[in-house]
Amino acid sequence: MEFLFQDLDETALGTLLDMQTEAFLYLSDPDFLRKNSEEMLLSCLRPPHVCIGAYHKNVLAGFGILYFGEDSEENLGHLLSFSKERLFSAANIKLVIVRPSFQGHGLQKTLMLLLENRAKQRGISTLLSTVAPKNQFSRRNMILSGYQSKGIYQKYGGLQRELFCKTI
Ligand SMILES: CC(C)(COP(=O)(O)OP(=O)(O)OC[C@H]1O[C@@H](n2cnc3c(N)ncnc32)[C@H](O)[C@@H]1OP(=O)(O)O)[C@@H](O)C(=O)NCCC(=O)NCCS
Repeated sequence: MEFLFQDLDETALGTLLDMQTEAFLYLSDPDFLRKNSEEMLLSCLRPPHVCIGAYHKNVLAGFGILYFGEDSEENLGHLLSFSKERLFSAANIKLVIVRPSFQGHGLQKTLMLLLENRAKQRGISTLLSTVAPKNQFSRRNMILSGYQSKGIYQKYGGLQRELFCKTI
């Protein structure tokens, strides 16, 4: 299956919200994902953040978000007690969603690689991401993409999240 990768902007907000809703309908466990608010998704579609979409015949099959948390609470580097300087050289792979009908084509790995290249261009040296420990598909893709587990943390109101880290 062929995909065309393209940066998404604010005009994609409605589609991203629909895809997030669809993802929750298909999840075997709702704790796998943290629901992002409309406001948060909108900010992800605005600079400096990067959202790359994978299109198949004009249908958005999947998307991935690179989030520059800088020194805000969103930066996962706080979990590893990064210094302020290090926080600014770290970014989050915040969310990847692939529509159920397009799963199984390695899109999560491809999207993360494209986001990694973009992060490098911006001077980022550490990528961080959290995954629900039971989310075997995402965990596997993190490990295959060269991320290392940094342990399990309580996040988002008590949910367990495994922190993954990659030096790029
Ligand atoms: C995690 C996710 C992005 C992976 O999608 P993907 O990149 O298309 O998955 P892969 O190409 O690595 O799939 C590998 C195998 O797992 C299967 N698979 C992937 N996700 C699956 C899912 N959610 N449910 C059941 N099977 C799934 C694929 O069909 C494929 O099977 P095959 O080897 O028999 O063909 C996708 O499952 C998803 O969007 N899940 C909901 C959101 C989520 O959990 N995101 C990650 C946290 S941010």
